[in-house]
Amino acid sequence: MTVVEQAPVAISVRGVSKVFGTGKLAYRALTDVDLTVKKSEILMLVGPSGSGKTTLLSILGCVLRPSSGEVELLGESITDKSEHALADLRLHKIGFVFQAHNLLPGLSIRDNVALPLEVGGQPRARALRRADAVLAEVGLGEKLRSLPGNLSGGQRQRVAIARALAPEPPLIFADEPTAALDADSGLKVTEMLKTTSSALGATVVVVTHDPRIYHLADRTVSIEDGRIQPAPEAA
Ligand SMILES: Nc1ncnc2c1ncn2[C@@H]1O[C@H](COP(=O)(O)OP(=O)(O)OP(=O)(O)O)[C@@H](O)[C@H]1O
Ligand SMILES: [Mg+2]
Repeated sequence: MTVVEQAPVAISVRGVSKVFGTGKLAYRALTDVDLTVKKSEILMLVGPSGSGKTTLLSILGCVLRPSSGEVELLGESITDKSEHALADLRLHKIGFVFQAHNLLPGLSIRDNVALPLEVGGQPRARALRRADAVLAEVGLGEKLRSLPGNLSGGQRQRVAIARALAPEPPLIFADEPTAALDADSGLKVTEMLKTTSSALGATVVVVTHDPRIYHLADRTVSIEDGRIQPAPEAA
């Protein structure tokens, strides 16, 4: 008998639901979601606006807690972790590219990228060197001292990507990372996600509406009305 070696599971989601609000205002954004993502896999999550993509990604990124169900990241259940333990996990294991970028407006873009590295324990000089290198990779080497407010939307998006990738985390979650980018930059940053994934074995989940990057996915999963849709039959 041949034993096929299976890649280890990086993310396991079982029966996850999310309800926002209570009583008459309660809104069910996710219903009974099951999802498994293997180590080093690049998964793209697609679906209409309002279908629950950001909600699911935020739960994976420990930014939101599920209302019910189980989530395991890198073999550990996160369901019962304290806020402090979740913050630690976000700092050391997770790179998150927010749909709204969430850059700190008062800090230069190099400080925006360097700050999480410093908080994670790197000396400032090393954190700045790393920030400069990753910002150069996303094409912002000339803008290191700019404030986010003085950049275009696409440039801010690239800073957010650089900030998520700089610590080389094992889990990378990106919410519409190419939405404000032209075709070339969009492809380039997605290729960076892919290179990071293959170089470091990082697992990447990307929410996207962008057909120009679909071919970089190992797998695409669609979500509608808060439910994962069954995969279409293989042709
Ligand atoms: N904090 C919140 N309170 C109440 N409802 C919310 C909250 N966040 C999201 N929702 C609702 O949950 C549903 C899913 O939202 P979500 O942001 O996950 O959608 P999405 O698939 O990411 O959409 P888009 O493609 O527009 O970004 C939406 O109907 C939204 O209005
Ligand atoms: Mg969204």
